[in-house]
Amino acid sequence: MVLLFMLFVLFLKTSCIYSWLPRKCVMYIVEDLAFLASCSEKTNTAICDHITDINEDLHGLPTNLQSLCIQLDSDIHYAVILAPGSFSNFSSLEYLKITGCFSKISPDAFAGLLNLTSLRLESNTKGCCEASVEFSGLTSLKNLYLSQYSLILMAQNVFDSIPQLEILSISNACLKDLSEVLCRLKNVKSLKLFYLSDTDLNVLQFPNCSFFNTSDSQTPTVYNIEKIDLYLGSVKHIDEGALKVFGNLWDLGFGGFLRDLSLMGVNHIYSLTFSVDVLNIDELCYAAKLYSIKFIFVSYTTINFPATPTNISKDCKEVVGIHLYQYVYNAFKIDSIFHIFSNLSKLTVHSYVLRSNDFKSVCLSFPQSVKQLSIMSLMSNVIGKIISHQFFCFKNLESLDLYSTNISSIEDFSFTGLDKLKDLNLCRNKLSRIYQDTFSGLYELMFLDLQENPLIQIESNSFGHLTNLHTLLLGDLHYPPNISQIKLRLSDIFGRIPYNLSNVFISSGMRPMQLMFGDVTLNRSLHLQIKGQYVTVEDCDSPLLTSVVTLQINAEYVLCGKDFIGKYVKSVVKLEFISVFSDNIGDLSVINELVHLTKLKLENIDLSKQPNVQIMFHNLTKLLTLMLTNCRIFFLDGSLTKDLKALTGLVFTTQSYVNILQNFVEHLTSLKELRIYGIHLHCSCDDAWLVSWVKDNKQVQVIMFNPTMKELQCVTENGIDFVNFVHFVQDNCSFHIEFVLFASTSAFLYLFIFVALSYRLAGQYIKPLYHISRGWFREAVHKDGKQQYRYDVFVSYSSKDECWVMEELLPNLEQRGPPFLRLCLHSRDFQLGQDIVENITDSIYASRRTLCLVSRNYIHSSWCSLEMQLGTYRLQVEQRDILILVFLENIPSRLLSCHHRLARLVKTRTYLDWPLDPEMHKAFWERLWNKLSTDKYNSSL
Ligand SMILES: *[C@@H]1O[C@H](CO)[C@@H](O)[C@H](O)[C@H]1NC(C)=O
Ligand SMILES: *[C@@H]1O[C@H](CO)[C@@H](O)[C@H](O)[C@H]1NC(C)=O
Ligand SMILES: *[C@@H]1O[C@H](CO)[C@@H](O)[C@H](O)[C@H]1NC(C)=O
Ligand SMILES: *[C@@H]1O[C@H](CO)[C@@H](O)[C@H](O)[C@H]1NC(C)=O
Ligand SMILES: *[C@@H]1O[C@H](CO)[C@@H](O)[C@H](O)[C@H]1NC(C)=O
Repeated sequence: MVLLFMLFVLFLKTSCIYSWLPRKCVMYIVEDLAFLASCSEKTNTAICDHITDINEDLHGLPTNLQSLCIQLDSDIHYAVILAPGSFSNFSSLEYLKITGCFSKISPDAFAGLLNLTSLRLESNTKGCCEASVEFSGLTSLKNLYLSQYSLILMAQNVFDSIPQLEILSISNACLKDLSEVLCRLKNVKSLKLFYLSDTDLNVLQFPNCSFFNTSDSQTPTVYNIEKIDLYLGSVKHIDEGALKVFGNLWDLGFGGFLRDLSLMGVNHIYSLTFSVDVLNIDELCYAAKLYSIKFIFVSYTTINFPATPTNISKDCKEVVGIHLYQYVYNAFKIDSIFHIFSNLSKLTVHSYVLRSNDFKSVCLSFPQSVKQLSIMSLMSNVIGKIISHQFFCFKNLESLDLYSTNISSIEDFSFTGLDKLKDLNLCRNKLSRIYQDTFSGLYELMFLDLQENPLIQIESNSFGHLTNLHTLLLGDLHYPPNISQIKLRLSDIFGRIPYNLSNVFISSGMRPMQLMFGDVTLNRSLHLQIKGQYVTVEDCDSPLLTSVVTLQINAEYVLCGKDFIGKYVKSVVKLEFISVFSDNIGDLSVINELVHLTKLKLENIDLSKQPNVQIMFHNLTKLLTLMLTNCRIFFLDGSLTKDLKALTGLVFTTQSYVNILQNFVEHLTSLKELRIYGIHLHCSCDDAWLVSWVKDNKQVQVIMFNPTMKELQCVTENGIDFVNFVHFVQDNCSFHIEFVLFASTSAFLYLFIFVALSYRLAGQYIKPLYHISRGWFREAVHKDGKQQYRYDVFVSYSSKDECWVMEELLPNLEQRGPPFLRLCLHSRDFQLGQDIVENITDSIYASRRTLCLVSRNYIHSSWCSLEMQLGTYRLQVEQRDILILVFLENIPSRLLSCHHRLARLVKTRTYLDWPLDPEMHKAFWERLWNKLSTDKYNSSL
């Protein structure tokens, strides 16, 4: 034991700051929080920045790491050498990304990474990194990405040593000649996808390595590659047949002239991306026919349609998708597109001025062409309005994207005919009114996006036709300013709620809103998102709310009368509430009734004003992640977290001064990841445990970070000066440790002597004595800091008096207040499975006072006598008024005198008698409560 304490002291002296992690790394362990990482979505991801020495800076990362992203320090990255086996400790690694340029990469740098499937090397310097790389030993590698690494310095067979390489992406490799790549690919038989993007490459030459140096007719192609994507700049010179070795290209992108394609020597191109000044459709269709092009993405300034489209149309018969991006806005006749491209299933036109009547004329002239179309996006063009039956012939259209197209009105029956439409995006337009027949005929519609429209009127039953609707996004409701509050009744705008409805977003933007759901039931789970300045709900008893499984609130508050809406969504699994420190948010402690919650996020909420914050997170035994972002709270203690047994991830961001008590983490038995950002600590030994806990606890990764100060600092008593928290703890709290060392050594020695001398006589005292000294020593540790108590009163009583305790004591003490007293009863609050003596000691020391209920039963119980014994020891040590006696019945002094301890207490202390006369009970409780509640205020706030 002594040895242990010595080690502990030594350990404190050398402890470092945040966590057991290396200083330059952060880790993401919990799946639900992995989205915070910008590395990979895998669990066990580490991100390390400002690396100067791989071995040193990564030292201490867990070896079961799955993903690692490291970035070299930008000042010195030219000087870093990647040594052999740099990552060999992390043999589970599957994803590795290195940003920066090494001066040298050793041949065996990646040795030992047998499970690595994905490797990215990106230089972020000007020009290309001149380090040569070898990839030996990467037996599982499937995916390799190189950016700004010079290929020319790598061996000719650099990729041959990667047996399973399937995807090779090279971008901006400072190529002078395509041969540099092609000659290195000739033996890579496993390759399925090859991606090359080098906008500086403007000369295409025939590869000059001997492999390709055969007579023309037998030029070997690069076998097995299913998909080859090439993105080149403006090509200035092409050797005839320069790309012949590829055979077919999946995606070819370049800037330049279509006629150059013939020089490249390829057979087929699946998808062609290019940009020209003048787009000649006849040239395009000629190329489409020659190379069997299916998809075309083209940007241009002007477009020329041929004089006799019918012939051209035959050439373009196989094109199924076209994306036209015009650099300048221009009026455009959409029917000419359908005239030429008769087989389109996907059409995107970007930056056009389109007239609604054009669509009608398309329907009249080319009904057969239009029938093929399933996806149409009309992007950032100017449409203005949609007219009745405008799309009547688009029978097979499934997705219509009219995002940000300046539409201010939609006539009735505009969408009739779109019998297969599933997805309609009208986000960011100028729609102000929705009528009953606006969406008439969209029976198959599943997804309707009306966000960012200044809606001022939605007629009843407007969404009633949409019987298959799955998702409705509605906002920002913008009723005219003279209508003080926006009122929306969900059952009213739907008439009948669609059977499949499962996603609803309603926003009143920056204005208040009054919401009614109506008397409707839903047979499926509903994801509900509410946004507005503040929102009141008129009918929280609506059965609709019982279907809500996800509730996201972005408003000052959402109230039902005076209650937080959370009270009415009992099935909710994910709850997010982002407020703006509003006072009037209701009592959030109803969250403790949402027992199905797995994810909870509260943001910008003043929890210090919540009267019942202590019980807010009770009963949440399924909660996996808790995020308290920028919430005001001053105490984190165990009463908050007592039920969060399943919690794996906790994110806590705050700008306030917080006292974190050790018992806060005690109950979090599943915790893996604790992130505390922006915290301010007081310089108090209360929080001293953090330093060792953070360092010591291997199960939880802790990230404590204060962006305004480089290291974790605390504010001293004068409230002005800051000091380094770890140094503070070392200088000020170690006194306690030394004292403890001394005390425990003596206690140990005394105990030993005592045991040796009087084992036979006093065997039964040994255990309590041990606990007394333990409690005593604990007291010493907390001597000057304000001690925090889990309970106000530990009640020592005989189980035979249980009835009185439950019926009289509990209601009269726990429910009287404020302040409310927390009682510790052995029948209710003892930890199951823990040793009973330990339980008693723990509880006595976790309580501000001990209350002994003396009765005949009590006197005869040996546990009670132990409890009293421990209580009196504490009394002697603390010299405070911590022990209170209540006599439940009259006990003859003859009986008492046999219990010398009790007899002495009765002589020296005041005690209370439980009055027989019921009239007197009120006064009894008043006295007792007053006695027990003094100085509760002083230390709890
Ligand atoms: C790898 O493990 C060895 C031996 O355990 C250790 O010396 C070395 O520092 C570790 N390297 C890293 C980067 O953790
Ligand atoms: C490598 O992957 C295999 C298969 O997923 C797994 O069984 C093995 O444990 C992994 N090796 C290491 C060192 O993690
Ligand atoms: C082939 O190309 C490489 C790279 O550009 C160049 O170094 C080499 O001299 C060329 N060989 C011949 C025979 O042209
Ligand atoms: C290619 O073959 C020709 C003769 O067929 C020969 O003259 C030339 O040197 C060869 N080039 C290379 C790079 O091997
Ligand atoms: C949850 O806990 C609180 C106090 O801890 C209690 O009052 C409440 O009844 C509990 N609710 C449920 C649904 O268990």
